[in-house]
Parts: sequence; structure tokens; C-alpha cells
Amino acid sequence: MIRILLYLFGAIAIVFAAYGTGNAADTAHPMMGDMQSGHMMHDMGGGQMMGGHMMDGKMMDDKRIPLNLPPMMAQHQKANMREHLKAAADVVHYMGANDFAAASKTAKEKLGLTAQMKQMCDNMPNETFRTMALDFHKSGDALAEALKTKDTGKSLKALDAMLAKCTACHEMFRQ
Ligand code: HEC
Repeated sequence: MIRILLYLFGAIAIVFAAYGTGNAADTAHPMMGDMQSGHMMHDMGGGQMMGGHMMDGKMMDDKRIPLNLPPMMAQHQKANMREHLKAAADVVHYMGANDFAAASKTAKEKLGLTAQMKQMCDNMPNETFRTMALDFHKSGDALAEALKTKDTGKSLKALDAMLAKCTACHEMFRQ
């Protein structure tokens, strides 16, 4: 009796294993095909893709204001953005490690209104963008100050205020 049961479980396990791999192969191939042909977005109807301007399967108009930067400046601006994200991540990392001094230093030097940042922002072609950029860097300085108090609540509030400036600008502008 036990022997029969063991055989039965064995057989079920084999069927499941075969079904599992078969299924993975079936789903992997169409995805790859779509990626190669560039129809990935189109075929993902029903999904929510904010960044891809797709929501509930409908294409959305991109209402962001284009900056129309010359190629060199565009590249520079994006590299700068990636550094901002890295700096914000570092701040969170240091806070988690209870190293408020390092978090404050990062905020001041990488997110605050340094002479270098001010010069870069001053070169941007759109006035509203410039204002938002300067305002953002000031919130980086405010974050550096809040972190100096070593108060997690105050620091998180300042981090929240700064990140809100990142997202507000992203909602309004594109390259
Ligand atoms: C004053 C406006 C402004 C502020 C403030 C701002 N960004 Fe951006 N960011 C932009 C624009 C414009 C782009 C380009 C979007 C596009 O067209 O692809 C961008 C792109 C990015 C990208 C994509 C970079 C790439 O390689 O494509 C990242 C990441 C990013 N921002 C992070 C941040 C973070 C994090 C903050 C805040 C700590 C921030 N940004 C604040 C305007 C801003």
C-alpha cells in the first residue's frame, strides 16, 4: 500500500516538473519575440505603465514640457540626474546605518546648492525649470541641516520634501 502511494507521489511530481518547465518555455518565447520586434508595450495592454505613457491599456499623451537640450547638455543633465538618485540612495543608506554625519555630508555636497550645481542650473534654457532646479537644491541643503540634528523624524520630513521636488519636476519636464 505504502509502495503504491510512493509511486503515485513520484508520478505526480514528474508531471508537475514537466508542466512547470513546459510552461516557462511557453511564456518566455513570446516575450522575447515581442522585445525583439519592439511590440512589447503594445502587447502589454491592460498593464499600468506610467513611465511608458500607458495606463489601463490606453496610450497617454506626454504633456511634459520638452527642454530641447543640445546633445552634449542632454547627456550631462541625465548623468547629473543619475548622480542625484545615487546621492539620495546614499542618504537613506547612511540613515539606516545611523551615520547622520555621512548622510548630511552627502546631502550637502551632492544635493545641495553648490557653486557647480548653481552654474549648471543657470545654463538651463527654461526659466521655470531653473527656478524648480534651484528650489530643489535648496531643499537638499535643508536636508543636510535636518540630518545634522540626528533626528530621524525631522530628517525623513526633509527627505520627503526634497523627493517631492524631484517628482514634481519629472512630472512637468522632459528632455
Ligand atoms: C528641475 C527639474 C528636475 C529635478 C529637481 C530633478 N530632476 Fe531628474 N530629471 C529631470 C528631467 C527633465 C529628466 C529627463 C527626463 C527625460 O526626458 O527622460 C530627468 C531624469 C532623471 C533620471 C533618469 C536619468 C537617465 O539616465 O535617463 C533620474 C534617475 C532622475 N531624473 C533622478 C532624479 C532625482 C533622484 C531627483 C531628486 C533627488 C531629480 N531627478 C530631480 C528633471 C529634474
